[in-house]
Amino acid sequence: MKLIGPFQQIITLANLPLRGKLVDEQLEIIKNGGILLENGIIQKVQDFNDLKAEFPEADIDKIEGEQVCLPAFTDCHTHIVFGGNRANDFAMRNAGKTYLEIAESGGGIWSSVQHTRNASEQELLKTTLERINTLISQGITTVEIKSGYGLDVENELKMLRVIKKAQTFTKATLVPTCLSAHLKPRDFEGTSEEYLNYILEEILPKVKAEKLAERVDIFIEKSAFLPEESRNFLLRAKEMDFEITVHADQFTSGSSRIAVEVGARSADHLEATVDADIEFLAKSDTVAVALPGASLGLGEKFTPARKILDANGILAIASDWNPGSAPMGNLVTQASILATFEKLSTAEVLAGITFRSAFALNLEDRGRLEKGKKADFVTFKTDNFQNVLYQQGSLRASHVYIGGEKIH
Ligand code: NIG
Ligand code: FE
Repeated sequence: MKLIGPFQQIITLANLPLRGKLVDEQLEIIKNGGILLENGIIQKVQDFNDLKAEFPEADIDKIEGEQVCLPAFTDCHTHIVFGGNRANDFAMRNAGKTYLEIAESGGGIWSSVQHTRNASEQELLKTTLERINTLISQGITTVEIKSGYGLDVENELKMLRVIKKAQTFTKATLVPTCLSAHLKPRDFEGTSEEYLNYILEEILPKVKAEKLAERVDIFIEKSAFLPEESRNFLLRAKEMDFEITVHADQFTSGSSRIAVEVGARSADHLEATVDADIEFLAKSDTVAVALPGASLGLGEKFTPARKILDANGILAIASDWNPGSAPMGNLVTQASILATFEKLSTAEVLAGITFRSAFALNLEDRGRLEKGKKADFVTFKTDNFQNVLYQQGSLRASHVYIGGEKIH
């Protein structure tokens, strides 16, 4: 048994509901708190001195100075395996160039595909691990990572193998997702429907056989895949026993409805979701994932997070870290900015980057500091947890624990 503390405040997030609106009065704050754990699993969270008296045999990991403790964060949507850089896309966008002009001048997703195809597994592994470490240093211990810059059998498998290999070098939990349906690659001879069939017949069986991913994603959008072909693709992927997630309603509305209809675990983006579809999504068990980093990267509006929560939906917040639309890779900054524009309570933001985003990955064993949960938590040097969001990411995490072990 190990006892870690005392923390000035522990924000447990215990007993908060999975869906809907939250107010800060619902937050449980344990002052002078301690965390008792065994084999990486939390046994008790309460007053540090009481725990010390009750469990005198526990090894004490003493915390010096003022620290507040929160459940570690889950980033449930990233694209951090990629080659190259799209700084020029960003500059061109800000200079007023259109999506088409940027693509024609060698930018866009296709440019990341070429750089990723040209990179070796070793090179991709190195940069991916660097990005994972950047996320860990922010307090993120669970990271979803998508393929989608390979777009053929060889390169999609290469990306997913990089994620599998990266898992052997990090204590963070990595959740891989196959996003071969990101875009029809320019060198594919055939229609987009034929490309989707190619994924179903040539890529997904190999992903299954090598146990590279249990989740399948698709980008449903005018510039990517159309609603009806996407629906068929998702239903077939589901028949193959993949869990579904969708890039939905980023620029045009309608696809979040498909996500709900096929029983997707999450529908991500939703910047363009119309009111009737918010209602439809919020009534379902499909998690709505806001990606403020993409709004900031593209200068587009934010996901209607307030409306989703008011309609009793399940709202998670993720970074979407990728070289194109969301190059920042700082979840706390983005979630805090989303809170300002969408009027989210601190409790709603913290839930959105902890147990609600873990739920989006089907992980219900983390994201709250209570008995039976994984002892993943993050500490900040301050006497008031509100400072974490107030400082918009500039208050850096002091320490990060995974399974009760300090790894940062
Ligand atoms: O989530 N919307 C599609 N895919 C990514 C962007 C990928 C890219 O631009 O490289 C996203 O925003
Ligand atoms: Fe994305």
